[in-house]
This record gives sequence, structure tokens and C-alpha cells, in this order.
Amino acid sequence: MSVCSLKGGVGKTSVTLGLASAALHQGVNTLVIDLDPQGDSTLGLLGEPGTSPDVAEVVSSPRTETVDRAIIPVPWSEGAASHLDLIPGSNRSTMMDSPSPSEREVKRLREALDKRSHQYDLVLIDCPPSLNGLTQMALAASDRSLVVSEPGFFAVTAADRALKLASEMREEGIAPRLMPLGLVVNRYRPRSVEHQYRLAELRDLFGELVLEPVIEERVGLQQAQGGAVPLHTYQGASGERLTADFDALLKTVLDSRQHS
Ligand SMILES: Nc1ncnc2c1ncn2[C@@H]1O[C@H](COP(=O)(O)OP(=O)(O)O)[C@@H](O)[C@H]1O
Ligand SMILES: [Mg+2]
Repeated sequence: MSVCSLKGGVGKTSVTLGLASAALHQGVNTLVIDLDPQGDSTLGLLGEPGTSPDVAEVVSSPRTETVDRAIIPVPWSEGAASHLDLIPGSNRSTMMDSPSPSEREVKRLREALDKRSHQYDLVLIDCPPSLNGLTQMALAASDRSLVVSEPGFFAVTAADRALKLASEMREEGIAPRLMPLGLVVNRYRPRSVEHQYRLAELRDLFGELVLEPVIEERVGLQQAQGGAVPLHTYQGASGERLTADFDALLKTVLDSRQHS
């Protein structure tokens, strides 16, 4: 599943890490692929920058040997019943984020992932804040896409473009397995009248594509990220509500497999 949006700072990485934490907690074997050249999910999962080879090598040389070597275990999963692995990212993937990628380029991540030896229940791809080459590569490799959005004025057009791109790529046969799962609204402040209004607007426009639960803005999320620990082991303020929300979101994601 690709976690994407046209915009930065809306919570793609936070949703990826929240889902990874829920998956680990529930015994779901998971691989995270950090396709954003900023490498935030790599930093959030390892507490330090990634090793090489990373996703840039995987994409430029889509072979079993490269992809298997790029996959590393995440310290979060030490002693856990299930695996949480990572293909790290770095700014070396910047060059692959072409605004007009060829079809061959777009298919490279899928080609590489099809050759991996490890099997997972869930693969999460954290995308950069654009709909260029890297995000298109992620979508072409995905069965599902999740668009992350804030409850704001500019969110509507951004979400619309991300959802349309996924349907176009499916229709053109570039992403044959892709089904857009929907929109996750993140950083919601229930007491903000503006947020209430924007959430209602998103529901009006996108209907059932607006997924439950809506994720609220909570300081516990930033604290867990700052400590590079999974939300589900973080004990601070507002942690419990967040873990419940990501558990529910993971359930929505996993349930959608039955409808494919
Ligand atoms: N639900 C939330 N509550 C509090 N802070 C959040 C929430 N979601 C995201 N953030 C914070 O907002 C910033 C941007 O989020 P991030 O996940 O990095 O966005 P993106 O990956 O889309 O650029 C980060 O500092 C993150 O900790
Ligand atoms: Mg990010």
C-alpha cells in the first residue's frame, strides 16, 4: 500500500509509522519502504540514517540480490512475535523523482519487489510530497493507495489529484492491481470550527472514501516519533487514543484485502 499525498507535512510518514506500530503489535509481518528522499521514516524507525544499499539501489538495479540486501530489520521488532523490516531511503532517490517518468521507470519498484525472497502480510510505501516519478513507482507497485490529508482549504484539490492519479494509472494498466482505499484525515482538532467545516466538506465531496477513524492532532505522536519508539509502547499523554486509532485504521487496510 502506498501512503501518498501531493503535499508535505500532512502526515504520510506519521501514518506509515503508526500503521507499522499497530502491525507489529498485532503480529502482522510488515515491510516499510521509505521512498521519500527526506528519509523521515528511516530516521523514525532506526533512530539514525539508513544503511546502503537503500531504495535508490533497489530501483536502479531491480534484482533479487539487491532487494534482499536492502531489507533490514527494525529495532522495534526485537523480541516481537512478528517481523518489521525496512528498505531505507535517502536523498539518493531524489534523481528518480522525475516529473515525466517513462513507463519503464515507473514499473521498476514493482519489478524489484516481485523479485524479493521475503514474504510479508503488509508492505507500506512512504511516498514523497509530490505525484512525480517516485510516487508513481509506488502506486504501480501497490494493491492499495491511501491518501493523507489535513482538514484544510487546500486539501481538497490536493486529495482529488492524488485520487485521480491512482485511478488513471489503473485505467492505463500501469498500476493494474491498484485500488484506491481512500483518504485519511490527519491532524484533526475536534474543537476547531474550521476543522469541523473542512471535514464535513471532505465527506461531502469524497463520501465513503473518507476513512474512519479520523486521526486527531496529539502531542503523544510527536513525542513517540522523537524517541524513535513505536506508538504502542509509548506510555505518555494521549498515547492510548492514538494506538486505538491506528489499530482501527490497520483493520480497515487489512479488511480491504477481502474485497480485491
Ligand atoms: N496526528 C498528529 N498529531 C500531532 N502531530 C502530528 C500528527 N501527524 C503529523 N504530525 C506532525 O506533523 C509533522 C509532519 O508530519 P509527517 O508525518 O512528517 O508528514 P509528511 O510525511 O506528510 O511530510 C511531523 O512533525 C509530525 O510529527
Ligand atoms: Mg514524510
